[in-house]
Amino acid sequence: MTPRSPADIRSRLDAWQALSGACLALFVCVHLILEGPEVLSPSLTDAIGWLLEATFAAQIAAPLIVLLILFHFWIAARKMPFRSGELKIFVDHSKALNDPDTWLWLVQVFTAVIILAGAFFHVYTVMTDMPISVAETTKRLHNGWLLFHVIFLPCVILHTGIGIWRLAVKFGYCSKTARETWRRRIWVGMGCYLLLGALALTRAWCQG
Ligand code: HEM
Repeated sequence: MTPRSPADIRSRLDAWQALSGACLALFVCVHLILEGPEVLSPSLTDAIGWLLEATFAAQIAAPLIVLLILFHFWIAARKMPFRSGELKIFVDHSKALNDPDTWLWLVQVFTAVIILAGAFFHVYTVMTDMPISVAETTKRLHNGWLLFHVIFLPCVILHTGIGIWRLAVKFGYCSKTARETWRRRIWVGMGCYLLLGALALTRAWCQG
């Protein structure tokens, strides 16, 4: 068997990064849609929470999602500017290139670090404070978690939206001519999710 070349390994890691990122993006979209009904009917959200617990979907998904986030971060970290001086060089290059996609990548790195730490605390708190219900959410928000979600929600949405954009460009779904349309679609999508999430949090906060 011929040994794999470094380029071979790099493209395999890129493929795993894309696949794990796509799965996480799908999870985030489904998660926020499941949170959405809270805006209209808290009892519907309670029923969804009960169903997720009774079928063990939440108990099974929680550790798997945390592992997937760790895996995704571990692969992506090889390209992140962590070493001293790397970040400054990256910012200097971004300024010189004046390319929006280069800046977006920096936003990805920044939000990734917040999500990595935040997702673990979020999942741990929700799963050790069952049931999954609006009453529990309201209690948590009034106990100090509101500030966490005010920071966490935009980070998750930005990271997911930019991630989808980068996947579309990388895998050729978004051609040069269609870039503006894709860009607009993704910004609108992110705006809708932000509004939905913010309204769900506001509704839960007002139940208290
Ligand atoms: C299976 C594991 C998970 C469960 C059971 C869960 C459950 C919940 C619940 C009940 C809330 C309402 C707020 C609260 O009660 O504290 C919430 C909000 C939120 N979660 Fe999760 N979550 C999980 C994983 C994740 C992950 C991995 C992410 C992101 C990477 C995430 C992102 C968010 C965001 C952004 C909000 C705020 C949305 C809103 O406005 O309501 N969650 N989650």
